[in-house]
Amino acid sequence: MTKKIVTLAGDGIGPEIMAAGLEVLEAVAKKINFDYTIEAKAFGGAGIDAAGHPLPEDTLTAAKSADAILLAAIGSPQYDNAPVRPEQGLLAIRKELNLFANIRPVRIFDALKHLSPLKPERIEGVDFVVVRELTGGIYFGEHTLDDDSARDINDYSADEIRRIMRKAFEIARGRSKKVTSIDKQNVLATSKLWRKVADEVAKEYPDVALEHQLVDSAAMIMITNPARFDVVVTENLFGDILSDESSVLPGTLGVMPSASHSENGPSLYEPIHGSAPDIAGQGIANPISMVLSVAMMLRESFGENAGAELIEMAVDKTLKQGILTCDLGGTADTAQMTAAIISNL
Ligand code: NAD
Ligand code: IPM
Ligand code: MN
Repeated sequence: MTKKIVTLAGDGIGPEIMAAGLEVLEAVAKKINFDYTIEAKAFGGAGIDAAGHPLPEDTLTAAKSADAILLAAIGSPQYDNAPVRPEQGLLAIRKELNLFANIRPVRIFDALKHLSPLKPERIEGVDFVVVRELTGGIYFGEHTLDDDSARDINDYSADEIRRIMRKAFEIARGRSKKVTSIDKQNVLATSKLWRKVADEVAKEYPDVALEHQLVDSAAMIMITNPARFDVVVTENLFGDILSDESSVLPGTLGVMPSASHSENGPSLYEPIHGSAPDIAGQGIANPISMVLSVAMMLRESFGENAGAELIEMAVDKTLKQGILTCDLGGTADTAQMTAAIISNL
C-alpha cells in the first residue's frame, strides 16, 4: 500500500537537507519497491511567512493523517524578538501528535573515529541511545516573564514518566539490557518522582538493569567514558542538552538523526540539530543527519529494514571514501555528499 509521507522542510538549511533526504529516499525506494507519496507542508518560519502561524492548520491536519512525518529544521534569527517564533510550531506538533518518546541514537562511524575531538580509546565501542521525554517538563509548563522577574514551571506526572521509562526499558531489551536514568534528584522534586517511577518500572523488567546518574556527572561521563552508556533515559530539557553534547563524540551535529513516537499515531523523524543559520543558503550543510532520519523512518514506521540498512551502509562507505562536508573538515558540498551516498547505495 502507498505510504503517505508529510515533509516539513522548515527554515535555514532545512530545505537543503530535506531535498537531499528525499533524493536518497527515492533512490532506495526503487531498490526495495517501497511505494510512497510526498506531501510537502509549510512549517516553522516558513509557516509564519505563508500562513501567519508556525504550525498552520492544514499542516497539522496533513501530519495527523500521515503514515510518517519527515522534518528538517526550523528557526531563524529574524524571529528572535518576534511575538510568534518558529520553535513554537515544533513544540506544538510534538504536543498535538503526542510524540512523547524521542529516540536519539549515538553511534560513531568507523570512518569518523579519527575526526572525533576525543582520543580514539575514549570513543571505542560507543553506541548508545538517548531516550528523551518530549512532551512534558519545563518546555510545556507555565512561562511567565515580567520586567524584573520570570519563572518557568517544570511539571511531570507519574504517568508521563512511566510511559517514557517503559519505552526505554523496551528498547534496552533489544540491546544490552541496561538503562541509565538521568535526573537531578538531589535538588528537584520532579527528579525525585522521576527516580521513584524509574525504580517501580524496573520491577516490571527484571531482565534489565537500571542505574541512576545525576545529570551533572552524567554530562562529564558522556565525554570521559561514553562507552559506558547503552540506553539513557531522561527528561525533556536534560535530553535536549545531553543529546547536543553527544554530537561531540562523532564530531558534528550534522550526522545525528532522531525518531519521535507516540502511543499509536504517526511518528516523526528529524535531525537533532537546528536550522544552522550560519551556513544556510550556501549548499554546504551535511545531509547525513536527514538521510539517517529517513533510514530510521523506513525501519521504525515501515518495517523496511533492508532499505534502512542500505542507507546506513552507503553513508558508512561514503565516509570511508573520505567524502566529508565542511563540518567534518572536508570540502564536499551537500549535493556532492548526497550524490556519493546514492551511488554507494
Ligand atoms: P544549530 O543546531 O542550528 O547549529 C549549531 C552548529 O552546528 C552551527 O554551527 C551549525 O552550522 C552546525 N550544524 C548544524 N547542523 C549542521 C549540518 N547538518 N551540517 C553542518 N553543520 C551543521 O543550533 P543553533 O545555531 O543554536 O540554532 C539555530 C536555530 O535552529 C535556532 O532558531 C534554534 O531554535 C533552531 N533549532 C531548531 C531545531 C529543530 O528544528 N529541531 C533544533 C535545534 C535548534
Ligand atoms: C531540539 C531543539 C528544540 C528543543 C528547540 C528548537 C525548541 O533544540 O529539537 O533539540 O529544544 O527541543
Ligand atoms: Mn536541541
